[in-house]
Order: sequence, then structure tokens, then C-alpha cells
Amino acid sequence: NENKLQAIIAHAKEYGFVFPSSEIYDGLGAVYDYGQWGVELKRNVRDYWWRWMTQMNEQNIVGIDAAIFMHPTTWKASGHVDNFSDPMIDNKDSKKRYRVDHLIEGFAETLPQEQGDALIAEMEKLIAADDFAGLKTLIETNKIKCAVSGTVNWTDVRQFNLMFSTEVGSVAEESNTIYLRPETAQGIFVNFLNVQKTARMKIPFGIAQTGKAFRNEIVARGFIFRMREFEQMEMQFFVRPGTQKQWYEYWKEKRREWHSTLGVAADKYRFHDHVKLAHYADAACDIEYDFPMGFKELEGIHSRGDFDLTQHQLYSKKKMQYFDADIDPETGKAYGNYIPYVIETSIGLDRTILMLMSEAYTEEDLSTEEKQDSRVVMKFIPKLAPIKLAVLPLMKKDGLPEIARELMDECKQHFKCFYEEKDAIGKRYRRMDAIGTPFCVTIDHQSKEDQTVTIRYRDTMAQERVHISKVREIVQAAL
Ligand code: GAP
Repeated sequence: NENKLQAIIAHAKEYGFVFPSSEIYDGLGAVYDYGQWGVELKRNVRDYWWRWMTQMNEQNIVGIDAAIFMHPTTWKASGHVDNFSDPMIDNKDSKKRYRVDHLIEGFAETLPQEQGDALIAEMEKLIAADDFAGLKTLIETNKIKCAVSGTVNWTDVRQFNLMFSTEVGSVAEESNTIYLRPETAQGIFVNFLNVQKTARMKIPFGIAQTGKAFRNEIVARGFIFRMREFEQMEMQFFVRPGTQKQWYEYWKEKRREWHSTLGVAADKYRFHDHVKLAHYADAACDIEYDFPMGFKELEGIHSRGDFDLTQHQLYSKKKMQYFDADIDPETGKAYGNYIPYVIETSIGLDRTILMLMSEAYTEEDLSTEEKQDSRVVMKFIPKLAPIKLAVLPLMKKDGLPEIARELMDECKQHFKCFYEEKDAIGKRYRRMDAIGTPFCVTIDHQSKEDQTVTIRYRDTMAQERVHISKVREIVQAAL
């Protein structure tokens, strides 16, 4: 619900996970900065995805890091120049621009269920038919108002491309418009043969990439759910034509397994099969998560056929073929030359962060008969938590900081630690709860006598006395 989202946004800012971009200038719409703990969380998720794909996977997958700028023809070939657009409409009075689907959906929500559903169905039909005049009529007959000015004074509906463009080199020439990539996938497609040849990859194999993508989203809603600058983690898996169905099912299952290791409850996920497919795709589904705004797309898995490589072959006039020396049992001959088919898995890193924050965010009432008390705790699984261990000497004197420093020096070689000696211990614990640190260790006077420390567990708040030499093992066991 809206309250939970607002609470997460406030918490993210207060505890250094996510700040509005250039906040001192009142921010920039749908652009965000990751703060000190957000960046650690994000790195942990990205690294985990990367290792899972390129190191732990039973399939043959290597990574690349392609540039954000690409030759402009890339986007002609991929279809983004001609098709990566949404129908938009402007309000003449407020000068506000709206995505037509968001405008109508927003209005439909104010109607009784059946009427709203009928309106959406009608809208979907018109969008599928590219019937812009029909969409305008639908908006006008329903007297849909501009949220800002409250007027019904609309322009015609137009297509609006979502790619950001800029100029490279001299601005005088006309042909130097280039785009900020709206997805990372094309960097993989254009490098398909470079990687296949230099790594001597045999089909089936995959290429993975993480990186920034940019889309000029018109209605940016839901915090880091829909951003104009965001990060994707994509993997293209190249297979022999005819085997795509089986690999599509394989990757659906594998990605489900990955999601089951993030500490997210299984019933918060939903697989949504696309009924309406892009003309080149033969199967597609979304993995949806139950965000505070409801079930929404987190990851897409697509069986894309040979569409992308064929398009690049057409536009670049370079062969995108692979020679398959394996013997086809039906003909007794090698499979020979073909353009591979592709299964794609594509997940938004920022959406994953929003999912993990939504899942982890917990308000707990700790009141007893004597006093009222509560805490906010981020229940990240240890392997994703920004900080794994906080080392907290009870006092700033009597040699306690020295013991604490020694423990820090040992542990920081292995995982992210945090040291703090200011404030009452209860306050320090609460701050660590708020950023999701799974373990806190306190050093007190007894530590000097018998080399034991108190280890406190975030979720249960249970405390235990252990020998200082055991601390590293306990944390590492949880990672
Ligand atoms: N190469 C396929 C592709 O880009 P997509 O469904 O457009 O497919 C994949 O995007 C994923 O990228 C989405 O599932 C979502 O997690 C993330 N994503 C897309 N647009 C986004 C945006 N504006 N802000 C944040 N994440 C976004």
C-alpha cells in the first residue's frame, strides 16, 4: 500500500540507502542516487547475480561490459528508433504530457470495477491497433481531466520515443545523433561473434552484462521502480534453432531458483505469461513481485528467436552465423551454419533493490509493561546486507577500543565491517537494525579478562557470549 511505500522512501533517505538526485535543487524526476548503504546493497546484489551467472552456473556463460554509446544504426536494427515509443497526449492548459495508458488507467481506477475494466479493455484494443484518433475520442468522451489543471483540453495523441539522444563530435553535421542505450542487450548482440570466437564458445552458451540503461519515461512512479536512468542485469543465451522451447523452460526454472535464494517469500512472486507476443518472440513471461503498489514486473524472460542477430546481419551486412560441428542424428551430418536463437533473462537491478527493501522493512513493537518501545529493522539476508558485522566497544577507554580495532582488522579482510564507539549501546544497536546489519559485537571489561565478547543477532535480538576468536567464523558461516 501507499503508506508502506512512503515509509520505505523515508527510511531509504534517512539511513543512506537512496537519495533523490541533486536534492539541493529539489531533485530530478525519476532519477535517484544511491547512498553509502544503498550502494553496498546494490553491489552485493549485482555481484551475486554476476557470480551466479558467470561462475556458479552449470551452463557456459561469460560476461562483457559494452559501452553505453553505440553506433546509431544499432537502434535502427533493433527496432528502437521506429518502435520504442508510447502514445502520449499533452494537456493544452497545464502543458503537462501524459502517457495515454497511465492517464486512462488512473481514471479507470476511480470508476466502479466493471466500468473501469471495460474502459481498460477498450484502451488496450485501441493501443494494439495504433488507433490514436480512437484513443483521443476515448479520453474526450470520458471527460478525463488533467490532474494538474483539472481541464479537459487535450492535444492529439502522438507517439513519443523513449530514447534519450545527444550529439557526438561536431554538432554541425546531421548524422551524429546518438542515443543513450535503452537496454544493455544490444551490446551483447553486436559482440556475439567477438565473444564466441575469442572465447571459443560452443552453443549453447550465454553472455551476461550489467549496466546502466536510459529511458525517457513520461510518467515516473513508484520511487526506484520506474526511473529514467537505471541498471539492468541481462543474459542472452544462444541456442540451436529448434531447442528454444526447452531452454526457455530451463531458464524460467533457473531464474525461479535464483529468486528463491534472496530471502523473499515464495508467495510474493508470480509468473505472468505474455499472451500477446512481439511478432518475433515465441514465448515470454514476466516474473512479478508483490511490491507495495501491488504485483508488478521485476524480470522478463523472453524467447526471441533469431530476430536480433538477423536484424544486425541485415543492417551491418556482416554474417552473424555460427558453425555447429555437432552431428545431427537425423541427417548424420553436422548441423552446419545457422543464426542462433536467443533466450533472454532481463532483470532491473533497482527494482530488485526495491523488492529487497520492501521485503526486509519491518516495524516491530517492543513495548513491555514498563515502557513503550519499537524498532525498524531491515531483515536482509546476511549475504546481501550492506554491513555484515558492527564492532562496538562499550566504552571509549580502558583498552576496549584496542581490542575492538584488532577484531576489526581481522574481520575487514573478509567482509564489510563497521566500527562505532559513540552513543549508548542501545542506540547503536537500533541504527544497525535500521540498515540491516545481521551481527553486532560488543566489547566490554570482561573481554579484557577472558577474551569473550557479546554477539547480538539482529532478528531475534538474542545475545550470546563467545570467544573473540569465534566471531569471524560465526559471521562467515552465515554468508
Ligand atoms: N532487453 C529486454 C528489456 O530491456 P524490458 O522489459 O524493457 O526488457 C527489463 O526491461 C527489465 O528492466 C524490467 O523487467 C525492469 O526490471 C527493468 N526496467 C525497465 N524499465 C525500467 C525503468 N524505467 N526503471 C527501472 N527499471 C526498469
